[in-house]
Amino acid sequence: MQTLLKLLGDGEFHSGEALGAALGVSRSAVWKRLQQVEAETGIEIHKIRGRGYRLATPLYLLDERWLNEGQGDANWSIHVYDSIDSTNAEAMRLVSRGDRLPLLVIAERQTAGRGRRGRKWVSPFAENLYYSLALRIDGGMRQLEGLSLLVGLAVVKMLREMGIKDAGLKWPNDILVGGRKLAGVLLELTGDPADVCHVVIGIGINVNMRASAEVDQSWTSMMLELGDAQDRNEIAMKVSRNLEAYLSMHMNKGFAAFKDEWEANHLWQGKAVTLLAGDNAIEGVVVGVDAVGALRLEVAGELMVFSGGELTLRLRQAAG
Ligand code: BTN
Repeated sequence: MQTLLKLLGDGEFHSGEALGAALGVSRSAVWKRLQQVEAETGIEIHKIRGRGYRLATPLYLLDERWLNEGQGDANWSIHVYDSIDSTNAEAMRLVSRGDRLPLLVIAERQTAGRGRRGRKWVSPFAENLYYSLALRIDGGMRQLEGLSLLVGLAVVKMLREMGIKDAGLKWPNDILVGGRKLAGVLLELTGDPADVCHVVIGIGINVNMRASAEVDQSWTSMMLELGDAQDRNEIAMKVSRNLEAYLSMHMNKGFAAFKDEWEANHLWQGKAVTLLAGDNAIEGVVVGVDAVGALRLEVAGELMVFSGGELTLRLRQAAG
């Protein structure tokens, strides 16, 4: 499947004969394979008599060799899949198998992509980035404090570098543009955080998605913001570079070193919000975050601090 899609990836016409010659199969076998690709991936392939086959839109496939060669000294072990249930789940499996760390799992598609609070993460083939980095944590809880916020910051930095200047954060780690979600972060842990454990940093970035009937929240993508399809290899590489730099600073100095930068990128600073914690709804104004990434809210004239994965922030509408 990959070879055929790579041949067609440029978005130009390719004759059945040329594709057949490249694959060493007959023209009718090419046609059958293309039908299979369409059924498996949802990618639209146009066939025009006399000209051949062409993808409805050009495609940048993930390139494991390029990702490996481009990582320089980082020396992460990189695993690229055509299809996987969830890159986070696969990273966890590789960790429990004892694979070399840090390890990075990226996939063209997830069949059971997971989001925060048990939601699903819509993961169509070759459109977005599904990225999971597994790390060993042996420095105790301090190494985990504020980590998910920091990851959001690394993603926002990449988006700004790519030209999406109004990308920003919503506590704890949603990445928004114009009020719509462009990326999300899901951290999962195995082991004992007080001793040795592993963390999987899962990042989902809507890169080239233009339409989806499945996503049940307001969303956008890099392509919708920038107007052009983006190379997911380049995006993965930039995310890795930012993460590498941020993680090493976090290891030495903790989240406190990022607090100001995080708040400067927080789109909801100073906003009137409702914080949902289970059945409780707390109304307040966002003051910022503390040195471990917990949310600071002014509630009825008092400063209160909230942390934990099951909290949801909503903007309060102005009365009137
Ligand atoms: C969120 O709900 O905002 C978090 C979404 C995280 C999605 C990513 S995609 C790569 C990794 N694998 C998963 O199954 N989930 C994360």
